[in-house]
Amino acid sequence: TDLNPPTATGVASAQQPSDQGQQGAYLTTAQGARLRDTDHSLKAGERGPTLLQDHHLREKITHFDHERIPERVVHARGAAAHGVFEGYGTADKITKAGFLAKGKQTPVFTRFSTVLGSRGSADTVRDTRGFATKFYTDGGTFDLVGNNMPVFFIQDGIKFPDIIHAGKPHPDREIPQAQSAHDTFWDFVSLHTEAQHHTIWNMSDRGIPRSFRMMEGFGIHTFRCINAEGATTLIKFHWKPKLGVHSLTWEEAQLACGMDPDFHRRDLADAIEAGAFPQWELGIQVFEDTPEQTFSGIDLLDPTKIVPEELAPVQPVGLLTLNRNPLNYFAETEQVAFHPGHLPPGIDVTDDPLLQARLFSYLDTQITRLAGPNFSQIPINRPHAPVNDMFRDGWHQDAVHSGVAPYRPNSLDGGCPFTAGVEDGAFIDVELKLPQAATKLRDQPASFDDHFSQARLFWVSMSPAEKDHIISAYAFELGKCYEKAIQERQLRCLARIDAELCGEVASRLGLPAPSPEESPAEVDPSPALSQAGHRWPVD
Ligand code: HEM
Repeated sequence: TDLNPPTATGVASAQQPSDQGQQGAYLTTAQGARLRDTDHSLKAGERGPTLLQDHHLREKITHFDHERIPERVVHARGAAAHGVFEGYGTADKITKAGFLAKGKQTPVFTRFSTVLGSRGSADTVRDTRGFATKFYTDGGTFDLVGNNMPVFFIQDGIKFPDIIHAGKPHPDREIPQAQSAHDTFWDFVSLHTEAQHHTIWNMSDRGIPRSFRMMEGFGIHTFRCINAEGATTLIKFHWKPKLGVHSLTWEEAQLACGMDPDFHRRDLADAIEAGAFPQWELGIQVFEDTPEQTFSGIDLLDPTKIVPEELAPVQPVGLLTLNRNPLNYFAETEQVAFHPGHLPPGIDVTDDPLLQARLFSYLDTQITRLAGPNFSQIPINRPHAPVNDMFRDGWHQDAVHSGVAPYRPNSLDGGCPFTAGVEDGAFIDVELKLPQAATKLRDQPASFDDHFSQARLFWVSMSPAEKDHIISAYAFELGKCYEKAIQERQLRCLARIDAELCGEVASRLGLPAPSPEESPAEVDPSPALSQAGHRWPVD
């Protein structure tokens, strides 16, 4: 390939950073002209005005003026590390993905993040955490872009802008920064009750992890595996931390927010520097790929549902070890670009409507965030597999492509027709099993309508101390709402989950506990609210 040739060792240059412009014996301009002085601008006389002709001054300031790029629209705050993934060979029967083969070692880069805070926000806020891993496999890059909770707020990606608008700071005052404590957040999750399952995970201790090293990770969606014979299986990905799952107490989280807002990123970097390399086992739950795509009555295309591990055990397929800190935060952690559609042969998507929207969103946003379509040439994003994609030109094109015929087949450049057999290819055709009279519609399967039973399952699986933390979290966060009608609507949702939970939260809010028979409120926006709009109290 003429694009992104690998370095002599076959490793992308993020692993072998250049020292350009940082360590030389003398300072130069960006064009390599030697400089005698970078502390004083060129002036007309010692006390005179600065001259426009001072190229070094203008070049230095101009470059500085453009140092920032937009932060991620979500998951803006993160910390990352390099590492290695070693396959166990246990998944060979269900997938031809080579990086899972026994003993196969693959370089990886993992970025952990909060979802809602801006790039400079604190680490220990109550929020979901991102857990995204880039596997630089021989068969092309595989990104496992997951979270530390096994379910998501919404069942269809078309609602993603809405849940994020509801969770981000209010548009007028841009407060608060944390996920909860929002009238808009509680308004959304009490009206879109599919969000109640994810919300109870957030209100539990999982919402305030002790360390990135002690978090589980989940791919959430069901993915499809394809083996060497073309047979398909449905799977869900799980990361299990070797250190176990641990959380902060609420009081610890508050102290850390104030005293060390970088608590999690410091912990990750310090541990790796000290040689205490964090490890996670990658595991999969495996399901038969039936036309119904359900397991034990659970719809596998519904990302608000888990499949309990008692019903489908998590089977280990490999080990992740993070063993090297990034050398440069901007070059690596900030510029890395994950995408749930970066899949190697042997792993494919399913029709989960949340996943389907994600497949569009990440590339689209990265074209803005990383200024153009060529960000896969940035060292941290370069595949370690050879690239021959025929993509040409565009902003920040680093490759000097040779040849005149960027298309295949061609008869000018010795361009060959496709030689890879179907069995080698990614995104292979999987037979579509559509009902005969399929029509376009904006609707969802009836199986997506149960919004409370798994939230209840989560609640009843908690110990008394964990239940107490959940009650306190709901009471604290809902207590920050200005609108009583929103608190009451969320209490009606809690009544659907569990009477004890609802009663305790209601009493701490000083409100009556509704009965489970009252409207769950999906279609019950309070007329008073919708007519008056939101008002900040003036006292
Ligand atoms: C970023 C996870 C749903 C759009 C991220 C990141 C993670 C993540 C971990 C941060 C990646 C990084 O470290 O750079 C998830 C999970 C989801 C989900 C687990 C549901 C199961 C969605 C949906 C959309 C979306 C439905 C849009 C339709 C985005 C965008 C970014 C992002 C635009 C920023 C990407 C960038 O700027 O590089 N997501 N997400 N996500 N996600 Fe999601």
